[in-house]
Formats: sequence, structure tokens, C-alpha cells
Amino acid sequence: MKTVLVLNGPNLNLLGTREPAVYGSQTLADVQDLCERASAANGLKLDFRQSNHEGELIDWIHEAGSQQAAGKLLGVILNAGAYTHTSIALHDAIKGAGVTLIELHISNVHAREAFRHTSHISPVAKAVMAGFGVNGYALAIAGLVQLTEKK
Ligand code: DQA
Repeated sequence: MKTVLVLNGPNLNLLGTREPAVYGSQTLADVQDLCERASAANGLKLDFRQSNHEGELIDWIHEAGSQQAAGKLLGVILNAGAYTHTSIALHDAIKGAGVTLIELHISNVHAREAFRHTSHISPVAKAVMAGFGVNGYALAIAGLVQLTEKK
């Protein structure tokens, strides 16, 4: 059974209390439960993590590249939070690790402030999902399976 790695970046530990009008009222623990169910439904094992530190996210992406090369990992769902809009280091890590990755945002970043319209992740992502609320995590897990299915 392969693993799906769901990575959450800065401030996502505050889900539930952080700007509920934008991000909803579900907590990160609720999102983890949702991902557990979506992973099980898709025959995958879940590895779910959150960090407020760019370097830690980079280390985890490197680790994911090795795990994918070893046939143990299907890919990564990444909500990089605000690092999406700033981090060339995360861009380089995804490219360097050669990992299959879906960029995810709870909110529709394109309908928000202009500084959220730029993503350093999109050019190195296999697909992008935004604006489906936290249910986007479940959709992204199912989407990753479809994208990586052997035809
Ligand atoms: C976010 C959107 C980002 O612009 C923001 O900085 C976040 C969350 C989202 O899930 O909608 O922290 O990635």
C-alpha cells in the first residue's frame, strides 16, 4: 500500500479559529480525519504533517522524493500557505526532489489580494486545486490517484 503525504505550511495549525469566513471552522485535526478517510477510500496510507518553518517543509519534500523513487510514496499534496507566494526555495526543492505534487489552497487565492495571485509552486506542480474549502484535500487525494494511474 502506497502512502500519500499531505503537507501543511505556516499558520494552518490555526485552522478553525483563523479567519473562519475565509478558511471555515474545521480544525487541522478535522482536516487530518477527512484525509484519513479519503486515503483509506483510495487504498492509500496517510502521512499528515504541518510546519511553520520553510526549511522543515523543504526537508520533508526531499524525503518525499526518496520515498517516491523507492516506490513507497504516490505523491504529495502541499498547502504551502503564504510560502506559496514567496518561496523559491520550495520551488527548487520540489523540482530537485522530482516528486509528484499537487498544490492546494482552501480558499480561491485568485479571488483574493493581488499578492496571492503569484505562486512559485504552480510551475513545478502536477496540478493545482483552490477554492473548494477543506474538502479540497479529499478531492486532491482522489485526483492524485487519477493522475498517477497507469493507463
Ligand atoms: C492558503 C492561501 C494562502 O494565500 C494563505 O497564505 C494561506 C492559506 C489557503 O489554503 O487558502 O495560509 O494557502
